Amino acid sequence: MKILQLDSNHPILKERLINLGFEVEDDFTSTQTEIESKIANYEGIIIRSRFKIDKLFLEKASNLKFIGRVGAGLENIDEVFANSKGILLIAAPEGNRNAVGEHALGMILALFNKLKKADLEIRQGKWLREDNRGIELEGKTIGIIGYGNMGKALAKKLRGFDVEVLCYDILNGVGDSNCKQVSLQELQEKTDVLSIHTPQNELSHKMVNSTFIHQFKKPFYLINTARGSAVETSDLVDALTSGKILGACLDVLEYEKSSFENFFENESLPDAFNYLIKSDKVLLSPHVAGWTVESHIKLAQTIADKIEALYFPKEIKQEVKRVTGIGGVFFKSENPVALRNWYQKHLGFNTDNYGATFWWNDNNNQIASTQWSPFAKETTYFQPSKKDFMFNYRVENLKLLLEKLKEEGITIVGAMEEYEYGKFGWILDLEGNKIELWEPIDAAFL
Ligand SMILES: NC(=O)c1ccc[n+]([C@@H]2O[C@H](COP(=O)([O-])OP(=O)(O)OC[C@H]3O[C@@H](n4cnc5c(N)ncnc54)[C@H](O)[C@@H]3O)[C@@H](O)[C@H]2O)c1
Repeated sequence: MKILQLDSNHPILKERLINLGFEVEDDFTSTQTEIESKIANYEGIIIRSRFKIDKLFLEKASNLKFIGRVGAGLENIDEVFANSKGILLIAAPEGNRNAVGEHALGMILALFNKLKKADLEIRQGKWLREDNRGIELEGKTIGIIGYGNMGKALAKKLRGFDVEVLCYDILNGVGDSNCKQVSLQELQEKTDVLSIHTPQNELSHKMVNSTFIHQFKKPFYLINTARGSAVETSDLVDALTSGKILGACLDVLEYEKSSFENFFENESLPDAFNYLIKSDKVLLSPHVAGWTVESHIKLAQTIADKIEALYFPKEIKQEVKRVTGIGGVFFKSENPVALRNWYQKHLGFNTDNYGATFWWNDNNNQIASTQWSPFAKETTYFQPSKKDFMFNYRVENLKLLLEKLKEEGITIVGAMEEYEYGKFGWILDLEGNKIELWEPIDAAFL
């Protein structure tokens, strides 16, 4: 199977794909049209953000089975059309979510503590302590909009900061122990610091505009590490000027093109951007929240893992539940009949020809039984053990457990036997005691 890699990634990705038997070609320089002319030769492509994978491109990719996006967002791919053609889209948010969480937190801490300003002033020979008095996160309410991979990563980082973390999401039931899900109204009522983590879509497009900003009860800080299109920058600048927004940390800007490397290729930079670059209340970074030394490798590994899982699915190992209870206590007796009668008379055992059966309910409230039985002293049933007793333990899936025990080097005695009251198997423990394992059908005794 041939895969075309369209952007340079950590070499581990190509290495792993080749080791899996894929043929991987790199083409980091051809134009989109040139790539389109040969794309029918490939069954997979790996892309970061070099160009848009639109309908035209996908129509030409007649043999394409998957697109691996070495990043989180998939907005540069015509998802609907790709799905209609059965092309699988593989993203790697697991690879850069921690980076985004740390970056968002780092930006707000830097802004609150005026680190950029103070650092610049010291370099200019200014030692201004009062001017650089910071603000603490403790006691503040952080509102997260979009509680997916990135939002959750930030909430996790905020543990230990003594802040309240709230989220709003279009999906219900996404809150967790790090963050309480609330309505948008409640979030806008309580938030001191708003962090945006929504994907680029019609709902999030220009979501942070004047109307939205003025629905917040208190003046607040804004962090955007999601996509520039989520914020109407001119409205943000108005709010920064009026004081409704106290400060902004922006890793993404609405002026970025689809490939964010060519930001400054815009002919003239808009007034709002010129305001942002002059303002002390604003901290900017060039779309690098998810761009760390560690995420470089993690993103590549995530894509390789997902392609491997797709083409070489690992056999799902069934979880083996081991012993669930005691099924029986068996022991040798000089005179089993007399002993059974003694237990019946003095301890109230409800005996039969074998011993006595005790009934109880297991954790799932299912009826279960445990057998008590004296055996004749000549019995060979406990062999090869030389002891005078044998325990029986209840199990849920005897066949699977015996396979597992065999793998673990445990001595299995005889073959599994099956009766109307369940399956039986025997093993020896560390001290040579014979153990009976029983997958019971308790109802057969009723
Ligand atoms: N700056 C960076 O370097 C960087 C790195 C990684 C991801 N990102 C961006 O971060 C954003 C989040 O990525 P993710 O992997 O967490 O996505 P995700 O799909 O895991 O989570 C997004 C969440 O937002 C919710 N959502 C969607 N539209 C919404 C709306 N209008 N209002 C409220 N909730 C909404 C979804 O239900 C989902 O729970 C994306 O835009 C992604 O491109 C940026």
